[in-house]
Amino acid sequence: MVTRRTVRSLALAGVLAALAGVAYALRWRRNPSPCPYSQRVWIDLPRPVISRSRLCEVLEPQPGERILELGPGTGYYTGAVAGAVAPSGAVHAVDVQRPMVTDLRSRLRERGHDAVAPVRGDGQALPYPDDSFDAAYLVLVLGEIPDQERTLAELERVLKPGGRLVVGESLPDPHFVTRETLRARLERAGFRFEDDVGMCGSYFARASVPPSTTAD
Ligand SMILES: C[S@@+](CC[C@H](N)C(=O)[O-])C[C@H]1O[C@@H](n2cnc3c(N)ncnc32)[C@H](O)[C@@H]1O
Repeated sequence: MVTRRTVRSLALAGVLAALAGVAYALRWRRNPSPCPYSQRVWIDLPRPVISRSRLCEVLEPQPGERILELGPGTGYYTGAVAGAVAPSGAVHAVDVQRPMVTDLRSRLRERGHDAVAPVRGDGQALPYPDDSFDAAYLVLVLGEIPDQERTLAELERVLKPGGRLVVGESLPDPHFVTRETLRARLERAGFRFEDDVGMCGSYFARASVPPSTTAD
């Protein structure tokens, strides 16, 4: 028989677990760092709101385009975008953690995607010249990076005038970036905010680099 005392103990345990969860999330938010490779099981889970098909609807990758993915992890979205730019396009997938890059490389090889270049690099100093890409995207990544503004400025630099950027965010990621914060940071980095889709705790936002105004 369940006594009142048992119910009280269970309720107390639940509250303590929730408080521990909040404290853990706050600690992570104050110390942005890459999601460890040992926790990749979380990034392989299905995502009903920020799905692959919705990313492609918002990003609109076209055959022949050159696209940058920042922080691909194990490549949840990479294959879908690579398929959309095939056969002559390419996806450059830049991740700061070598084990993620190695894992992505072997998964892509297994799936036969040869239009993807997994590269080790840091979003805060992208290893590409100016105006290199038609579009870029990053999902569940921005909040892990210590200098988000510098990263957005780097993305703006490597995108061509008119280039598209899609940022995906979702709770319960402890590094979740709100729409309002993201929009302010995008605009400070020189992007034009266009739209966002999804729900309050899970969304894709789209922005673009203003077209060049300099005469050729
Ligand atoms: C939570 S995972 C998300 C992976 C993937 N985008 C997805 O949605 O499944 C974040 C990824 O961003 C990478 N990352 C974190 N900081 C980075 C940085 N400064 N530059 C490049 N990648 C970074 C991490 O190594 C990790 O693979």
